[in-house]
Amino acid sequence: MNNNQIDNFINTKVAELKNKLSGKKVLLAYSGRLDSVVCAQILYKACGDNLICVFVDNGLLRKNEVEKVLQNYKNYFTLPLVTIYGKDRFLNKLQNIIKPESKRKIVGREFINAFKSYKSEQTDKIDYFAQGTIRSDIVESVKSKDGKFIKTHHNVGGLPKNLGFKEIIEPLKDLYKTDIKLIAQKLNLPEELINYQSFSGPGLATRIIGKVTQEKINIVKEADFIFRDEIDKTDLKYKLFQYFAILIDTRSTGVIKGNRVFGNTIVLRAVITSNGIKAKFCKLPYKILQKVSTRITSEILGVNRVVYDITSKPPATIEWE
Ligand code: XMP
Repeated sequence: MNNNQIDNFINTKVAELKNKLSGKKVLLAYSGRLDSVVCAQILYKACGDNLICVFVDNGLLRKNEVEKVLQNYKNYFTLPLVTIYGKDRFLNKLQNIIKPESKRKIVGREFINAFKSYKSEQTDKIDYFAQGTIRSDIVESVKSKDGKFIKTHHNVGGLPKNLGFKEIIEPLKDLYKTDIKLIAQKLNLPEELINYQSFSGPGLATRIIGKVTQEKINIVKEADFIFRDEIDKTDLKYKLFQYFAILIDTRSTGVIKGNRVFGNTIVLRAVITSNGIKAKFCKLPYKILQKVSTRITSEILGVNRVVYDITSKPPATIEWE
């Protein structure tokens, strides 16, 4: 997109939405990450105070992320933000679930359930549900003629049939991440938000291979935090699209303080891509990998092995599930 096309997109979208949504309440699924932030900005220009941004803490977010999202929102927006604390309902529904596709669908459904219960408690009628879906979410979720697809993104194929809203509004659904970043710059969003690391809706549920438990969430959260902390001290943070940790379900033998242990394995993944469709693994300096490995194994009880994923997309996807 060039400068004119960006202006054109913003102006046309705002006019279109203004026309369609005039005087109507719109509930936006707000995650605090770039796509939903840009979506919020565009919708606010179209509907003003009729926009209701709703953020769900599903217990599957990164360390300190809830506080960060709330703080960022306070810094850059004037509308109040509705926050739903839904950790227990998500974790209950995910109990004993192993299949990645099932996890994605459960998370997609629980998000909608949370929005629907908020809606049912309001006296105002809320017919419209908005979300910051982008092109790549749809490309991977949609089945081709021969029935093949890559994965159900929680916000596309993972939505329940009965949405409970009259219509779904997705102003960014024809754009890729590169365009979203250009629009964000045009809207004068701060660098901190533009460079906020992408994260998937199913969150840590699909970064834990196998059953999701609170104990495993704590482990992967901490490992992810340490990895991000070390990368963020370097310029690599500007080059990488995503860098995160995965807790796999393979244990291995180790020795800690002279005693045999049979502990957990953390996988580190760091990728470079512009739009998420194809990605290259990053040749991270050994010095950083060594530091992260030492910190993870000494700071997190129960982890005795750290490995680095050296696969690009394709053939691997960025997330492990
Ligand atoms: P994959 O793993 O498919 O990821 O190579 C491509 C990009 O999409 C993100 N991702 C998701 N985002 N809901 C989302 O909102 C999802 O279900 C989902 N699955 C993957 C992933 O983090 C990467 O940025």
